[in-house]
Amino acid sequence: MNILSIESSCDETSAAIVCGRNVLSNVVATQIERHRIFGGVVPEIASRMHTESISQVVKQAIEESGLSQSDIDAVAVTFAPGLIGALLVGVNFAKGLALSLDVPLIPVHHLRSHIAANYIAHQDLKPPFLCLMVSGGNSHIVEVLDYTKFKIIGRTRDDAAGECFDKAARAMGLPYPGGIILDKIADASKADMYKLPHPRVEGNELDFSFSGLKTAVVNLIHNADQKGQEIDKPALAGSLRKKVCDMLIENTLKAATLTGHKTIALAGGVSANSELRERMETLCAKRGIKLYYPPLNYCGDNGAMVGVQAFYEFESGNIADSSLNAAATLSIDYR
Ligand code: KG4
Repeated sequence: MNILSIESSCDETSAAIVCGRNVLSNVVATQIERHRIFGGVVPEIASRMHTESISQVVKQAIEESGLSQSDIDAVAVTFAPGLIGALLVGVNFAKGLALSLDVPLIPVHHLRSHIAANYIAHQDLKPPFLCLMVSGGNSHIVEVLDYTKFKIIGRTRDDAAGECFDKAARAMGLPYPGGIILDKIADASKADMYKLPHPRVEGNELDFSFSGLKTAVVNLIHNADQKGQEIDKPALAGSLRKKVCDMLIENTLKAATLTGHKTIALAGGVSANSELRERMETLCAKRGIKLYYPPLNYCGDNGAMVGVQAFYEFESGNIADSSLNAAATLSIDYR
């Protein structure tokens, strides 16, 4: 089944053609440069840029797949969650395309597709497994019970891990998107130089809280500024990265013990983090847990992961009609 899939939930316009877990093409037009001068994504600009590039991106995805329009069996699109204006561009384009090609329209949840990014490179990965889903807007520990059945067992009470990285990086004067740059400049050997808090929450022991950590970094920088002191950026980046990884890893391994899962997948933009991957590799190997994470080119937003998840959504009967609407928020375990 050849699926043409579209992603426009944030600052990447992407389209792909996939057949099952095989990616025939995957075109990504990133808006990062345009948003960089503002230090973050400007929703209005994102929507406009999706509108400008979506036709070309879809056309290129079809061309690069070697298929023609008549070979497309379904159109899939990210419909939630994300920036509402940005999502609407993809959803409306997909609706029109599905109608004109007379093929089914498959709605895909953005976080489900991040998890599906793992299926592309790891043909052996099958539910059930545990997933640490960490992106710019979400931080969840999810049980993937089946391809379209999810149970959230841990979540952030406030900011996402990516938000914590991005805002701390911005306060450090690093360019957007801060999480990636912060990871690059972080000096692990100086990770104990700055003492940062390890916020814990009451109630569910698998939940996270990142906002206090973010504020601690911002305050540390402001205090140093006021005293005319220089910040050692690689040391601060290393300290923050270590702390965020401590929190993510501690809860994920605790979740594995509590649930008995012997397979863990990482997903979302923050799963590109080098320390998170390395430490999880070592710790999972010690515990006899199989660890999966997506290749770097599939960690960020892309159409291919949407198409792969769409295949399973279609198989489970999740098909939309022309009344499909975008939603800014929607839980991954929606039915
Ligand atoms: O999943 P994603 O591409 O978009 C959302 O759906 O949110 O995630 C973007 C987030 C940003 O916060 C970005 O800074 C973070 O992923 N990120 C990283 C790294 N690469 C991307 N954070 C830490 N280390 C990285 N190497």
